Amino acid sequence: MVKVIGICGSPRKNGNTEILLREALEAAASEGAETELVRLAGRDINPCRACDSCKSKGECDIDDDLNEVIELAADADGIIIGSPVYFGSVTAQTKMFMDRTRPLRSNFRLSDKVGGAITVGGSRNGGQETACGDIHNFFLIHEAVVVGDAAPTAHYGGTGVGGAKGDSAEDATGIETSRNLGRKVASLAMKIHG
Ligand SMILES: Cc1cc2nc3c(=O)[nH]c(=O)nc-3n(C[C@H](O)[C@H](O)[C@H](O)COP(=O)(O)O)c2cc1C
Repeated sequence: MVKVIGICGSPRKNGNTEILLREALEAAASEGAETELVRLAGRDINPCRACDSCKSKGECDIDDDLNEVIELAADADGIIIGSPVYFGSVTAQTKMFMDRTRPLRSNFRLSDKVGGAITVGGSRNGGQETACGDIHNFFLIHEAVVVGDAAPTAHYGGTGVGGAKGDSAEDATGIETSRNLGRKVASLAMKIHG
C-alpha cells in the first residue's frame, strides 16, 4: 500500500489549510492509499542555519521537531504540502520545512515521489498560484514528480479562498480541487510505487 502524507504549514491548528488537506487525504484514502496528516503548528521548528553539516556529515545539526517530519516525508510515496498564502508566498513554517529537507537531497531521497500543493488565501487572487509554484519548485529541486489537480478543473493544485478559521469548509472550489489533487497524488503514487 502506498503512503500519502499531508504536511500543513499553517501556524493555526484546524485552520483552512488543514480543512483542505484533510479533504485531499480523504480522497487519497478512497483510492487505496494509507494517509497521515502532519501539522507543523505546535512543533519546535527552526530555520536552516547554513552550517553545511548536511553536506559534510549527511545530517542536520539542528535537534528539533522538524527531523521527524523530514523522515516522514522521506518514507512517504506521495507528499501534499499545504500552506496559507502569506504575502504572496508560503508561510515561514512551510519554508523552514522545505529548507531543512536539504539533507534528503544528498542522496535524492525524495526522487520520484509524487508531490502536490494546496494553498489558501484570504483573497480570491491573493497569491495561491504563486505559493503553489513555490511548493512545486521545492519538489522539482528534489527530483519529485509534480501534479496539479486533475482535469477537468485544471488548477495548480488545491486552491482555496478563506480568511476566518473554518471558511474553507464552505469553499466548494477549494474542496473540489483539493480532493482532485489527493486522488491524483495517490493514483500516480500507486502507478510509480505500488
Ligand atoms: C501574515 C499574514 C499574511 C497574509 N497574506 C496573505 C496574502 O498575501 N494573500 C492572501 O490572499 N491572504 C493572506 N493572508 C490570509 C491567509 O492566507 C488566510 O487567512 C488563510 O485562510 C489562513 O489559512 P489557515 O486558516 O490555514 O491558517 C495572510 C494572513 C496572515 C496572517
